[in-house]
Amino acid sequence: MRMLALYSIKGGVGKTASAVNLAAEAAAQGRRVLLWDLDPQAATTFYLRIKPKIRGGVARLVKGKAAFDKVIRATEVENLDLLPAALASREMDQLLAEQQENQLRRILKPVRHDYDLVILDCPPTLSTLSESVFASVDALLVPIVPTVLSLRTLEQLRDFLDRHDIPCQVWPFVTLADRRRHLHRDTIAELPRQWPLRLSTTIPSASVVERMGVERAPLGQFARTSPAAGAYRALWQEIAQRLQ
Ligand SMILES: Nc1ncnc2c1ncn2[C@@H]1O[C@H](COP(=O)(O)OP(=O)(O)OP(=O)(O)O)[C@@H](O)[C@H]1O
Ligand SMILES: [Mg+2]
Repeated sequence: MRMLALYSIKGGVGKTASAVNLAAEAAAQGRRVLLWDLDPQAATTFYLRIKPKIRGGVARLVKGKAAFDKVIRATEVENLDLLPAALASREMDQLLAEQQENQLRRILKPVRHDYDLVILDCPPTLSTLSESVFASVDALLVPIVPTVLSLRTLEQLRDFLDRHDIPCQVWPFVTLADRRRHLHRDTIAELPRQWPLRLSTTIPSASVVERMGVERAPLGQFARTSPAAGAYRALWQEIAQRLQ
């Protein structure tokens, strides 16, 4: 069971849009995918038309006592299941801190044979929850909006991982890109040198992505032929190749 997280310290950079679209692409390619919404905002849960509720409560989940057949929900996308978020998800930090071994991978042990891939949609924080994300995943997928501040948070992440000796791979990719803007073009061109593990597919800034909130579905379900959907398909291919 491979695990990936959409993660960034920065908010509003396209983590959730990317988590939903990449998970749907992986599912369309025949993988059995579990998308875990870790953000109390529950945007991923909303996009997939599931009620923001963790049946049995978040404490049971963190303690490894959840009834997964009730907590995990099937979505309208074939091969894609969701572990929803709720407002109570904000208690996860505290609950994880109280655990001896606080890995998210441990929590999912009972369902590890049911899924090929788990994708985590993370809140924009650096907390106990993030540390347990770092300890669990094969790689962090970090969306980079081509601006100075976005790159700065990427450096902060690298510093944090180095300082705490966390051997977690960081795979940045550019999103919300507007090639007509000079600064965007320059930032995108600079990235490969500083970040050799950068994914080369760029996700354009596109209004269909914003429409996901109205359609409440991944791009593959309502805008299959759009350039943005094509970009997410290409990004997933690139990730799948690296995971082999
Ligand atoms: N490629 C894109 N083109 C246009 N709009 C986008 C794109 N990606 C994301 N957005 C929009 O930008 C906003 C933020 O995106 P999203 O919610 O995915 O970011 P996030 O990093 O998950 O935010 P948060 O840190 O709050 O969880 C949303 O309104 C979304 O519709
Ligand atoms: Mg989000």
